[in-house]
Amino acid sequence: MAATNIEVWQQATVVHREQVAEGILRIELEPDMPKRAEPGSHIDLIISINGKDVKRSYSVVETSADGNRLVISVLRAPLSRGGSIFMHDLQIGQRLNITQPLQNFPLRVGAERYVLLAGGVGITAILNMATVLKKLKANYTLVYVGRSRSAMAYLERLQQLHGERLQVHVDDEGSSLHIPELLAGVTDGTELYMCGPIRLMDTVRRDWLQRELELSALRYETFGNSGWYDPEEFIVRVPKLGLEVTVPPGRSMLEALEDAGAQMMFDCRKGECGLCEVRVTQLSGGIDHRDVFYSERQKRQSSKMNCCVSRVVSSGTGLRSDAPSSGFPAVVTIEPN
Ligand code: FES
Repeated sequence: MAATNIEVWQQATVVHREQVAEGILRIELEPDMPKRAEPGSHIDLIISINGKDVKRSYSVVETSADGNRLVISVLRAPLSRGGSIFMHDLQIGQRLNITQPLQNFPLRVGAERYVLLAGGVGITAILNMATVLKKLKANYTLVYVGRSRSAMAYLERLQQLHGERLQVHVDDEGSSLHIPELLAGVTDGTELYMCGPIRLMDTVRRDWLQRELELSALRYETFGNSGWYDPEEFIVRVPKLGLEVTVPPGRSMLEALEDAGAQMMFDCRKGECGLCEVRVTQLSGGIDHRDVFYSERQKRQSSKMNCCVSRVVSSGTGLRSDAPSSGFPAVVTIEPN
């Protein structure tokens, strides 16, 4: 499927909203310039947080049969930076600035076999891929992982459509996914597409590398929204700019630095491109790397971090500490890019 990443901005109207799982809202948008979304595509949209315009990305779950509506689904994050709260407050008739569908997670048609892995709200990036593979009569398995059935959006519909091709793993039923088992069944010619919490994708990626499977056959989408530790407040010092900024749990380091007037480099804002990298010169605490850009070795070294998603924490295992930790809050000193 062709990938396009040219941003075409337009207005869209909210035409339907409906809760589809615990904390997950299905939102249907009618864009002024409708365009069908390919599997794996997303839209960027502008939301308002504390009076500021901020860009957020959401996977397109599907396009309506007539091609006029784009569907997204949004989890109301308990530690939201404001984005999911704004989205859950949207009302029918409200107008939004959105892009036409963008693509950086394309489905490659023609593989011998596919494994689609969705964790929680990550199903939003995967659902349309499964629909297309079903239509193409491809050899695929859809693996859907969640903490409880009530929190798993579209589960019933997926069961009806995909039957035995769907494998469901539910933590509170004791049927959690065993990743080595999943990857043991991956042979040459299999492509794995995944979207879900960073820790799930990190584990899959690590096992994938250990098994020396073809890296180009592992594809993922991340919106950089979860890490190994709960977000906490920390302090970032930038001696070059004479700045000391407090980063609250609900803001990224990048956003906090921008708020303080720093000119930062960035592109994806979701831990994929590495453009927002900063050099860590001193650290009291540890880095909760939430990107998929660095290798495991780079993450362990903790000499750099992608400040759009990664955070600093005051406790945890394997933390680097250059200065005696004074406990909470953790402090990081950086040189910006
Ligand atoms: S902006 Fe792309 S990794 Fe941070």
